[in-house]
Amino acid sequence: MGRKKIIAGNWKMNKTPEESRQLAMQLVAEIGGFNACDIVVCPTYTGLEAVRNAIAGATNIHLGAQNLHQEKNGAFTGEISASMLVGTGCTYVIIGHSERRQYFGENDALVNQKTKSALAAGLKPIVCVGETLDVRESGGTEKLVREQVRQGLAGLTEAQLASTVLAYEPVWAIGTGKVATPAQAQEVHLWIRSELAACFGEAVATGFRIQYGGSVKSDNAAELLNQPDIDGALVGGASLDAAGFAAIIKKGCA
Ligand code: 13P
Repeated sequence: MGRKKIIAGNWKMNKTPEESRQLAMQLVAEIGGFNACDIVVCPTYTGLEAVRNAIAGATNIHLGAQNLHQEKNGAFTGEISASMLVGTGCTYVIIGHSERRQYFGENDALVNQKTKSALAAGLKPIVCVGETLDVRESGGTEKLVREQVRQGLAGLTEAQLASTVLAYEPVWAIGTGKVATPAQAQEVHLWIRSELAACFGEAVATGFRIQYGGSVKSDNAAELLNQPDIDGALVGGASLDAAGFAAIIKKGCA
């Protein structure tokens, strides 16, 4: 059986709870009954509850958070744990987004801890990897991305791996309008799948879903998602508009 595609919207630090509710309602109206792929929306922490209520009747749309803290609870002022996300209706959580790595010092070891903590609470992690422009230009993409995959997923069981999603997001393509070509993205997705095979075996690698992220729009979604190793998209800017996000979903998962 083929891998079911998964398209997630990362709203980043945008929208108040009320604006989040409105966007979610519009999405339900646009793609509420669309079952050809899994759809995930990831508002800010403060928007989670409003979005949870807005999508309650749409079983094809799932709720995700953009981050979590690795500890279960305790004296970590301002942080949110996996069980709190579960209690707010989340089934997914983005981990190790390049903005977390770049602005908040997250590294592969922390990404691994957060991934394990998410899985232990029953959340499905979307683990992000990807190279900066410097790394790409110096020919280091394959080595870096393989390392991010190996370290980020180290120690996971087969059952845990089956609940995990990877997102390849080249940093130079995020929010820049500079999308990777389908061939560039496919090449890296293949490296990722081959690293998964080396670490965890062919069966895990074959079943693993790997999203592409970085300036995905309705006019490039189909071409990217038609690549054999691209199993979905992690969409930033274009997920803030319901009609645009719905178009990505319909074109990418036709
Ligand atoms: P853009 O789609 O805005 O380039 O953002 C991609 C991204 O970072 C999704 O997590």
